This record gives sequence, C-alpha cells and structure tokens, in this order.
Amino acid sequence: MRVALLTGGGDSSAINAAIRAVVRKGIAEGFEIIGIRSGWRGLINDNVEPLYRGSVSGIIQWGGTILGTSRTNPFKMDRGVENIVVNLRKYGIEAIIVIGGDDTNTVAWRLAEHGVNCVGVPQTIDNDLPGTDYSIGFDTAVSVACDALDKLHTTASAHHRIMILEVMGRNAGWIALIGGIAGGADTILIPEVPFTLEEVLERINKRRLANKEFSIIVVSEGAKPAGQEAQFTRDQKKDPFGHVRLGGAGSWLAEQIEERTGHETRVTHLGHLQRGGSPTVFDRVLATRLGAFAVDMVMEGTFDHMACMRANQVVAVPYAEALDGVKTVDLELYNMAMLFF
Ligand code: F6P
Repeated sequence: MRVALLTGGGDSSAINAAIRAVVRKGIAEGFEIIGIRSGWRGLINDNVEPLYRGSVSGIIQWGGTILGTSRTNPFKMDRGVENIVVNLRKYGIEAIIVIGGDDTNTVAWRLAEHGVNCVGVPQTIDNDLPGTDYSIGFDTAVSVACDALDKLHTTASAHHRIMILEVMGRNAGWIALIGGIAGGADTILIPEVPFTLEEVLERINKRRLANKEFSIIVVSEGAKPAGQEAQFTRDQKKDPFGHVRLGGAGSWLAEQIEERTGHETRVTHLGHLQRGGSPTVFDRVLATRLGAFAVDMVMEGTFDHMACMRANQVVAVPYAEALDGVKTVDLELYNMAMLFF
C-alpha cells in the first residue's frame, strides 16, 4: 500500500520525530511512504518524494520538518482540491497521514467528501486541539518559555524591574499558563480570562509592599483587557485560513504599567523561538507514539480520525470530535495558579 505523509501549518519542534516514526513503522509494515513537500501545497503542485529508512536517520533531535510546511488551504485555491485528487491517483496513494494543527487537519477532514482517506496527527505549540491532552511541540515550546522566565527572573531582580514575557498560543492560554506556573510568574494573563489593568497594578503593588522589588508577568498574545473587543494584532493581513497575526499585548501592557507606576518595565516577545530548537524528551516520545499509532490506524482503515493522547493512552478520535472548537485552558488550573499571584 502506498501512503503519503505531509506536515502542515505552523511548525513545532518534534515533527521530525513523528515523521521518523511513520516512515520506520510504515516500512516495517510493508507500506511505501511518499513524502509530500511543504504541506498541502506539495500535493497540489506535485512536489513529492519517496521516503526510505535512511531518509529519517538522525533526525529525531532536529526541530523543523524535513518535509517543509506551509499554511496552504486547497479549498481557497483554484483547482486546489482537484489537483490533490489527480495527484493522489497518479501516484496510487491510498491514504495520507497528516501531521498538523486544526487548519491542516480540517482540510484533511473535508477531503473525505472527495474520497481522500486521511489520518491525523496533532502538532501545534498552541495545544488547542480538543481531541488530545497534548499536541506535539507544546512541551518544547513551554520549556522554552520556562527557560526564558528563569533568565528574566535574575535580570528583573538585579534591576528591580517589571519584566513582561509575551508568548504565543493564539486563542488558548496553555503556553502562558503552564510556562508561567513552571517559571514562577507573579501574574499570568490568558485569552480565556480578560484582565483589568487595575488588578495587574494591584499585584505589582502588593509585591512591592512585601519588599519584592521586581515582578514577572507572562502575557499570552491572545489576551486582552476586559471591555476591549479586539485582540492585539501585528497587522490586519489574514492567512489562507482567515487568521490575523496576533501580538502587541506585552508592549501595550509595559507602556501602561510604566506610565501608571513609574517602575521600569521591559517586554520580551518570545516569538518563534518557541517553535524551534531541539525537542524535549516528552515531545520526542509523544511524537513517536502518535506517529506509530497513525500507521496502525491506516492498516485498520480508521480514516477521518486523529491519533490522540488521552490519559497517557494513544487512541483514535473521530475528526468531528478532535477538531470540535478550541481546547481552552482548564480554569481550575488557572485558579490554582492565581494563588501565587
Ligand atoms: O499556531 C502556532 C502559532 O505559533 C501561533 O501560536 C501563532 O499565533 C502563529 O502560529 C504564528 O504564525 P506565523 O508562523 O505565521 O508567524
């Protein structure tokens, strides 16, 4: 059986570990694995290459993706879907293993109507896919955030400053919350809970009164003050899935804090550092387990499902459930984190 493999959407650090697992397990089961270059774009433009055991040698520790990625939406392109169907037929590809986040996997799900068999593997630093407890790349991203907070702590303390770290995550505050708890943040601002400037200032003040002359604030790129309708954005340009680039909450907050308190405030935008570098042990193992399981799903014909991690078990979850909205943060956990604010 010939099976294609593609990686799409914003990258994260353990995609190569998942590619390696699919290729090694797939070949062991007698599949021929065809790599699609640069996500759905490669299938539309006929940019494919066979993958062998040797193609995935020594890649488990690399960030990025050896196949390349893109945010391509075939449903928004002239002949996008038709070209996919034609190219699949041309190469005799019977199924596709799709490693990506909600946009990439939603395309896979919609392609079922066109007779295309897909199995999903969740990959996004945002960790916002409802079907799975953990998505590939999240643990590495959150470790980068924690490491940044450790570094910001020492300089904040030396200069008696307020340090703000802005992290990614789109409409889910997972990176801010988990990174902030692990990094000992004094305030964590997430998209799920609109904040007021007054409460942020009150917390800063409370610390100063307790002779703590510095503060560490983590703000998610999607967080916004209560009453403000729109999130902070870099510009108004939309990607092929209709997303604008978020960002700017940290700078806005720094200005407000400095103006209101007179305390020196600095902001760090962690940006794409969260998506790069060597994956953590957790991410490597997660990616390996999910990739290998996706091959089992193809063998059993469990299409239109995603390989997901639930309570440390890998299970097949129907796309309809795995992609049902955004998995926002656990508010109980957020309330627990507030004990430390
Ligand atoms: O979805 C992953 C993500 O890193 C988001 O957290 C972030 O908002 C977005 O992608 C950034 O996208 P780009 O790589 O296009 O700048």
